[in-house]
Amino acid sequence: MGAVPPFRGGPRGGRVSILGRVSGPAPASSPEAHVPVEHPGAFRGLQRAVRLTFLLTGAVLLVDATVVEPNWILVGRSIEHVPALPPRSRDLVVAHLSDLHVARLGFREKRAITLLREARPDIILISGDLVRGPASVPALENFLRGLRAPYGVYVVWGNHDHADGIADEEGARAVRRAGAVLLNNASVRIGDPARRMHVAGVDDPVSGNDNLRQAMRGVPRRDVCLLLAHTPAIARDIGNWDIDLLFVGNTHAGQVRLPLLGALYLAWGTRGFAEGWFDAPGGARMHVSRGLGWSWLPVRFFCPPRIDLITLRGGPAPRRGAASVLGRT
Ligand SMILES: [Fe+2]
Repeated sequence: MGAVPPFRGGPRGGRVSILGRVSGPAPASSPEAHVPVEHPGAFRGLQRAVRLTFLLTGAVLLVDATVVEPNWILVGRSIEHVPALPPRSRDLVVAHLSDLHVARLGFREKRAITLLREARPDIILISGDLVRGPASVPALENFLRGLRAPYGVYVVWGNHDHADGIADEEGARAVRRAGAVLLNNASVRIGDPARRMHVAGVDDPVSGNDNLRQAMRGVPRRDVCLLLAHTPAIARDIGNWDIDLLFVGNTHAGQVRLPLLGALYLAWGTRGFAEGWFDAPGGARMHVSRGLGWSWLPVRFFCPPRIDLITLRGGPAPRRGAASVLGRT
């Protein structure tokens, strides 16, 4: 019987698990010394870190979309040249906001009132969708009561105002009690002695209650006319009317926007007019407000609410292109 050769096929003096982990010493010359050593503990730690990062990111985005952004009001400033205004007349500052969707006089509403008081605009225009829910009329009245502008606060109804049933005599009385002016297919000449300027407003075009002919009845063609409406769709109707500027809303600028993709959803008839300045028929310019509140879902993402302060300057724009750049918000 010869000498038995040393055993070389398995662990000797140690154990190998099915994962190839070596426990105990292995001879330096044995194959076990070259088995790749894995670290399931470290892998599980990495998995946990990735999962935690996703959870934290999701939580941060959720808080941003539901708490931070809906209350983070931006104030945009732009200059718009109005050829129909006398060249040397004093600048007129218009505060344009829309889609208040007021349910109560909460943080956002109080913040908006504070910002508007600090801005001290000459005139405040609000492009409809004033409330959220039929019980919100007292909150709307309190909100409007907080606004001040020497040439007045003007509002029009939006489609939600009709859907919520406040676009009636009771709603109109609440607006009046607050000191604001409801332009329900009507116009008014503002009390600025230096200019002949009118504000006209139509009832909601989305629900088909607008009557531009009636709204423009008292506006002489030679006077400056600012038209207030709920939605950009009104622009297709203004061709025959001498309107200088349109102020509209309804889009919420999408309310939820993704980087590179933009708005996920825009209301019917507003595609291409999410927010900002646009050329409208008849040489008019149209400003679309991003809005202050929310509808359907209580979120805003990459799209905080915004109040626009627009300086109207008399005389022609230095160059059309330059005016567009200046006018873009
Ligand atoms: Fe709205």
